[in-house]
Amino acid sequence: MDHVEGALSARDRVGVLDFVLLENYRSEDAFIENLRKRFQHNLIYTYIGPVVVSVNPYRDLKLYTPEQMQIYRGVNFYEAPPHIFATADNAYRSMRGEARDQCVLISGESGAGKTEASKKMLQYLAVCSTHSHDVDRIKDRLILSNPVLEAFGNAKTIRNDNSSRFGKYMDVQFDYKGAPVGGHILNYLLEKSRVVQQAEGERSFHIFYQLLAGADQDLLDTFFLERRPDSYAYLSKGNCTRVSSIDDKADFKTVYNALKVIDFTQEEIEELLSIVASIIHLGDVVFTSDGDRAGIIDAMPVNRVARLLQCPEEILEKALTHRTIVAKGEKLLSPLNEDQAAYARDALSKAVYDRMFTWLVQKINTSLANKEQYRKHVIGLLDIYGFEVFQKNSFEQFCINFCNEKLQQLFIELTLKSEQEEYLSEGIEWEPIAYFNNKIICDLVEERHRGIISILDEECLLPGDPTDLTFLAKLENAVGEHPHFVSHRTGDVQTRKTLDRDEFRLRHYAGDVTYSVTGFLDKNNDLLYRDLKEAMCESKNQVTSSCFPKSELDDKKRPVTTATQFKTSLNQLMAILMKEEPSYVRCIKPNDNKMPGVFDPILIRHQVKYLGLMENLRVRRAGFAYRRPYEAFLNRYKCLCKDTWPNYYGKPKDGVELLCQSMEYRHDEYRLGNTKIFIRLPKTLFATEDAFQLKKHDLATTIQATYKGHAQYKKYKRMQWAVTMIAAHWKRVAAKRLLERRRNAAQVLRRYINGFITRNQPPNGDNEMFINHCRVTFLHKLRDSLPKSILDKSWPTAPPNLRETSALLKDMFHNNQVRRYCLNMSPQKKMQMQEKLTASEIFKGKKSSYPESVAQPFKSNRLTPQHEALKSKVFDKKYLSQEERPKYMSPVTKYDRHGYKTRPRVLIATNLAVYILDEQDFKLKDKILYENLTGISVSELADGIFVIHAECTDKKEKGDVILLSDQVIEATTKIALAAGKINSIQVVKPGGLAYTMSGGKEGLIEFSLGAETRVEKGKKGQLVVSACDGN
Ligand SMILES: Nc1ncnc2c1ncn2[C@@H]1O[C@H](COP(=O)(O)OP(=O)(O)O)[C@@H](O)[C@H]1O
Ligand SMILES: [Mg+2]
Repeated sequence: MDHVEGALSARDRVGVLDFVLLENYRSEDAFIENLRKRFQHNLIYTYIGPVVVSVNPYRDLKLYTPEQMQIYRGVNFYEAPPHIFATADNAYRSMRGEARDQCVLISGESGAGKTEASKKMLQYLAVCSTHSHDVDRIKDRLILSNPVLEAFGNAKTIRNDNSSRFGKYMDVQFDYKGAPVGGHILNYLLEKSRVVQQAEGERSFHIFYQLLAGADQDLLDTFFLERRPDSYAYLSKGNCTRVSSIDDKADFKTVYNALKVIDFTQEEIEELLSIVASIIHLGDVVFTSDGDRAGIIDAMPVNRVARLLQCPEEILEKALTHRTIVAKGEKLLSPLNEDQAAYARDALSKAVYDRMFTWLVQKINTSLANKEQYRKHVIGLLDIYGFEVFQKNSFEQFCINFCNEKLQQLFIELTLKSEQEEYLSEGIEWEPIAYFNNKIICDLVEERHRGIISILDEECLLPGDPTDLTFLAKLENAVGEHPHFVSHRTGDVQTRKTLDRDEFRLRHYAGDVTYSVTGFLDKNNDLLYRDLKEAMCESKNQVTSSCFPKSELDDKKRPVTTATQFKTSLNQLMAILMKEEPSYVRCIKPNDNKMPGVFDPILIRHQVKYLGLMENLRVRRAGFAYRRPYEAFLNRYKCLCKDTWPNYYGKPKDGVELLCQSMEYRHDEYRLGNTKIFIRLPKTLFATEDAFQLKKHDLATTIQATYKGHAQYKKYKRMQWAVTMIAAHWKRVAAKRLLERRRNAAQVLRRYINGFITRNQPPNGDNEMFINHCRVTFLHKLRDSLPKSILDKSWPTAPPNLRETSALLKDMFHNNQVRRYCLNMSPQKKMQMQEKLTASEIFKGKKSSYPESVAQPFKSNRLTPQHEALKSKVFDKKYLSQEERPKYMSPVTKYDRHGYKTRPRVLIATNLAVYILDEQDFKLKDKILYENLTGISVSELADGIFVIHAECTDKKEKGDVILLSDQVIEATTKIALAAGKINSIQVVKPGGLAYTMSGGKEGLIEFSLGAETRVEKGKKGQLVVSACDGN
């Protein structure tokens, strides 16, 4: 509780906010002192455990503002200062959380604040429950039904300016979401006698005064009313038509508007109010006494009543003054005397008002009804008339106090008794607390055959002329010995002094009340003469006619007496309440004068006593503030002990024991019952709850972490799976591709082979590829192996179907090669080539050594450096004429024309002549002018001999020259070219070659085929040259 205390403002710490915390909890003085302290600080609410004790402040303390409501919304009961909102919120949350119907029992004597409490709680429920558009409709109705009911059912009494004169049990129905969806009102015993009679200082029901004060003039006129309540008999019996705390005019507006909201049509409102008006007029019907016959003095009121209720005036008039008696099967109209007529009038007024009130409640119920069939949970608010003691107490007080007696009984049943019985059944050691059980009083009133009500009923039924006094006598006989009953006759001397002869006293749990039996029989019988009922049945006023159904006239059954009816409905109510989970608000009034700030200790002590608050506190203190079945307790707090978290598989009781040990509960703090754990002080529970709330955060973190881990793991698993999947798919794709490649390869191979087999057929589907391939391969091969030199005649072998192309290509390539060769050739080279060409033309196919010479390029100068020196020293200076140019220079061997001696010589061919020079000194040995040159001869063979033939024009000339050159083809070609006598060269067949010498002599050279080249002198003086043919 420290915790709770800590949470409250300093102001709230005045006294103790829960009597359980009171040091001296057995002392009534301490109890009252605590109440007083708090009351003085305007702290009107104090707890006894879950029970709220409320002291009426008689002033507006701003305790019910929307801000206040927010404080209590969804907050633990003990966490905010005591308030009825905490009770309402707790009930609401229990209803939602545990799906249990709830009821709030508000008790206390008249004026203690019950009705206010019930209204505020209803408001709290409307404001703080779940919101939605269609729900607001029902909320409005629930709230607006209140002013209507109060207007018709409340009145000013000396105890309370707004005293409820009927019992009310209001259900608010909630759907599963916690939104109010409907309501229902049960009403109990309206104090209808108030319509015709009020004690001094009291008023009739508010509506009468409201109508006169608040209705506009038109309405008043239609009702034939004046704004003067004092002038109407029924409204002024208590000589108090105006109450300072009440604004009748404003209230009328509120009621009028409320009626419209709760589905009353304009017609219905008017009919309702015209009934109210008719009753006012009925009160003004006065009778004269003409002998034994009553007569109506002034016809006007009756006329107005008849018009307002829309029933025939004569019938009404007759019914008010006569009574039909059935005697021996015959109907007789018997006139009433003055008293009887007044009685009948009052009975009519009461009956009409009473039935109208019941109709009103039903009508409101229709408007509040929820038509949905689904299961609803309810919070019931019981606001019933409180215990009442007046100067004169009659049948009404008897009923009201009996009702309170029953409620006290219920309270005892549900708290004191059941609490103690629970300890017993749970096997908890327990020292019983003595409390007064008022069952004995309840029995005194209601016991069958022996109770006061039974005796009253019996007396009412009795033929003859039973009177209230005969009833009292019966009562004395039957219950005279009862400890809670006293009458003048049965009481001791002392008591007698305080009791009249027509009185009896009941020792109620809340105190002694003396009842006057006068009127008991009548009120219990609740007689309405048949004639009046008939008159009402004739009414065209819809409300009236539905209140007085014609069927009732045919009902021969004796109507149930009022007391029995009341008893039955109370017992039904108790049965309902027993099924619901109760919360209690115990209202106390601080003084009898409705004064703010006045705390009357005597009055309060009395209430504390009869409300049983001390016993309540003692049981609470001795007992345990909190109890919970093991399962539920373990389930909530199992996370606080590692042995029970996350699951405990043993017996719940053992689990709870482990939990208590781990929470380090002290032994006196708790007890383990058979099925429940009992915790003595809220403090212990709060500590546990706090630990739980803290732990919840830890748990949330752990759960979060676990969840995150799990989520990550799941993600990882997913990714892993994805990887496997991708790999698998990729493998598949790769495998497919490989397969495809292999298949293609196989196909290519197959086509290749097919193509190869059919390669020689004309191109067709089978061999096309192969052929193309061969072509491409060939072309590639060709590209890589093209001949590099013009003389290279190699050429790859073409596949059959490319031969033609190959040949063409070869030609083209060759031509191109040649062309390029030519283009790239230097003039010298060109000349060389031309020389070679010339040589070829001359020698090709003729001389054996020719092929050998082809590769050797022709040179123009084969002189050694020595030769060069000599040449320039000797030849150029001595022999070479100005216009001459050497064209060919080469060492040669000269054969003498006779004897064939060999002589090394140097041959120089110029553009004019051939010079044969001594190799040693370059002395001119022979000179042949080209003009004299007649021919040059060589053999077919591979020898190097050549003969230059020359015409001998004078004697000095020596004739033909026989020469040997290693480059015979070069030498001869060069000379012929220099001489410009290409055709002069002749290749002679083996055999003899004649040559001329000076003087016209001839020599012979014999060529023959031989294994090697040999030149020698023949036997016949000829020169024999043998040589191979070059092959
Ligand atoms: N909580 C409260 N705050 C202020 N005034 C109150 C409170 N409770 C009751 N009263 C005053 O006391 C009067 C009587 O209260 P009411 O609830 O009608 O009593 P009961 O229904 O118990 O007879 C109210 O009209 C109001 O003036
Ligand atoms: Mg009330």
